[in-house]
Amino acid sequence: NLLHRGPDATLRMILRKPSHERTQEELELVFEELLHIAALSHLSTSIKRELASIIVFEAHAQAGTILFNQGDEGRSWYILLKGSVDVVIHGKGTVATLKEGDDFGKLALINDAPRAATIVLKENNCHLLRVDKEYFNRILRDVEANTLRLQEHGKDVLVLERVAKQRGHSAFKYTVMSGTPSKMLEHLLETRLGGQVGPNDPFLDDFLLTHIVFMPVPQLVDDLANYFHSEGEGSQSPEDREYMITFRKRVVQFVQKWVIAVRHAVFDDPIVCDFIEDLASEVEVDPELSEEAGIIHHVLTQLSRYQEDRNMHAGQKWKLPPNGQPICLFSGNPTSSRTVIRPDDDIIFRVYCADHTYCTLRFPLHTTAEIIKACAADKLQLNRGPDDLQLVEVKSNGERSIFKDTDVSVPTGLSLNGRIFVSTKDHLDALTPLPEQEGPTEGLDIDIEVLSTKELAYHITLFDWDLFWAVHEYELLYHTFGRHHFGKITANLDVFIRRFNEIQYWVVTEIVSTASMGKRVALLRKFIKLAAYCKEYQNLNAFFAVVMGLSNMAISRLQQSWDKLPSKFRKLYQEFEALIDPSRNHRAYRVFVGKLQPPVIPFMPLLLKDMTFAHEGNKTSLDGLVNFEKMHMMAQTMRTIRFCRSRHLVLDPPSPKSEGEVRSYISCLRAIDNQRVLMAMSQKIEPNRK
Ligand code: CMP
Repeated sequence: NLLHRGPDATLRMILRKPSHERTQEELELVFEELLHIAALSHLSTSIKRELASIIVFEAHAQAGTILFNQGDEGRSWYILLKGSVDVVIHGKGTVATLKEGDDFGKLALINDAPRAATIVLKENNCHLLRVDKEYFNRILRDVEANTLRLQEHGKDVLVLERVAKQRGHSAFKYTVMSGTPSKMLEHLLETRLGGQVGPNDPFLDDFLLTHIVFMPVPQLVDDLANYFHSEGEGSQSPEDREYMITFRKRVVQFVQKWVIAVRHAVFDDPIVCDFIEDLASEVEVDPELSEEAGIIHHVLTQLSRYQEDRNMHAGQKWKLPPNGQPICLFSGNPTSSRTVIRPDDDIIFRVYCADHTYCTLRFPLHTTAEIIKACAADKLQLNRGPDDLQLVEVKSNGERSIFKDTDVSVPTGLSLNGRIFVSTKDHLDALTPLPEQEGPTEGLDIDIEVLSTKELAYHITLFDWDLFWAVHEYELLYHTFGRHHFGKITANLDVFIRRFNEIQYWVVTEIVSTASMGKRVALLRKFIKLAAYCKEYQNLNAFFAVVMGLSNMAISRLQQSWDKLPSKFRKLYQEFEALIDPSRNHRAYRVFVGKLQPPVIPFMPLLLKDMTFAHEGNKTSLDGLVNFEKMHMMAQTMRTIRFCRSRHLVLDPPSPKSEGEVRSYISCLRAIDNQRVLMAMSQKIEPNRK
């Protein structure tokens, strides 16, 4: 047959004829032969019959012949019948040798991308079958095998899979399922950048949002620099020069997209800043890269603006109020708009001993639990070695959770009324919460009744928007994979999540602290109205917090109060409860939020749940390759955040009645977060019926 003997003279003769000259008998002969070719084994007989009329035979006498070059337009797909070929990639050399029965040249066709490698004949007298692009597209494109694997040095480096397109010209496209970090980057540069009209899919954005999980910045920068400097194979032929220019353009465009995708986080690493500056100096002197020089110049402007801003806010001090909830700028005006919390900002907090004595510490947020522990032990004169001691959070309900030595950003990670303790390992059981952890002791003691509900919702939303704005998408990854994994802080996310809990428990606390039935009913109405305004302002985080507060056992059991509520409010509340209903994976909320236009403040705990779900349900690495499907899932959630913030929050302010008061009130809400205490208070105001 074709593979083992090589096609006999007749077959060759047929396969060299143009298709319209092939007789029925001849086509039958070819068809018979195609049945034996492994590269076609996944195709149906009817497809093979179609191929019989268009497949072409090609013989090459000379070893060393270049069949096509990397970067060329892809015109055909090949099957190797006899002989062998080398797959050669710029900057890497020969990455694979293909033998009889192997096929190649599909990648460029399915992706509409340039050739990813040069194919050089390794032996004299090679025989090939060829399917030209127009036929490939017509006959094969839509029935192509689902998975495409690329190997280098005998190991898989990239796995692509065919997926149905939602809409578009051709019915299918290929997306990256897994790969080595470097090969994925190379594939990205060659198919998604440099003015190529590759598939318009989220691959690039996914990669930019998630590479920190599988490809640390130094490695990425290193690969980019190598790619930028790959000079072809030595000779400075015009083609080589052309490749070089294309490669450089791609790297510059990559950097441009990188900054757009993750903003200032790109500039947080000095390695990247150096790289961008080097890039700029090389691009600027190349007359063929004038457009790219403009791009890099713009990036440099953003970089210096960011650095100025960072210097301006350098050494910010944050304060974890001993009793109150929000983490606020120390000595700053608590109502002025916030800035981002950075790893080298300081935070002031207390560390307690078993006997409730404490010391006040001030450390940068990136400080590890180990250092805090040692310093607290020293200040509190515990006279024990660090190995005997432990840093612990004691929650208001007495629960304890131990910090790992490597934990960073310890104070921001505390539960609402949690406190940091240091203790010897064998005395952990003796740690009890401070009396103040039980009750709301800080915060303004204003009667909430006198404040306008709309104004409350308005200022809560502005406040939340500031907190939400400060959260970087990366913090979701740090949170999901574990901050210690990256040595990064998630302080802005922590603060935002704390705020959610704060609002939730504030609602419960206010109601169970109201002894008068009449006032309590009025308060229920007020909170339902507050939820309605938050929903109207598209602050779904606060909306959930308020409604979840109202559905807390300590509140839902207050039957007499609920009975006195006008039915209009009870109905509204039922609607809200349906919206926060977690069944079918929060379907009601997802449908609702899916219809909103930005700006939106999303229900953050659900986004974190989605991240965790993607993380726990999928391995990060599959047979040594990055599971890029997982990265895609996570990037989708990260993009939700981007979408929510893609327009600035502009709200019509309600007519100010007591603006200053409302603003200071909402910046520090009083909340009890011990469920047992809340239930006891609830029992007291409405005892169980006998
Ligand atoms: P295409 O990009 O069309 O042209 C070069 C071909 O080399 C490519 O399709 C693949 O079919 C084949 N190839 C084999 N191994 C590799 C590899 N590791 N990287 C890129 N291409 C490869």
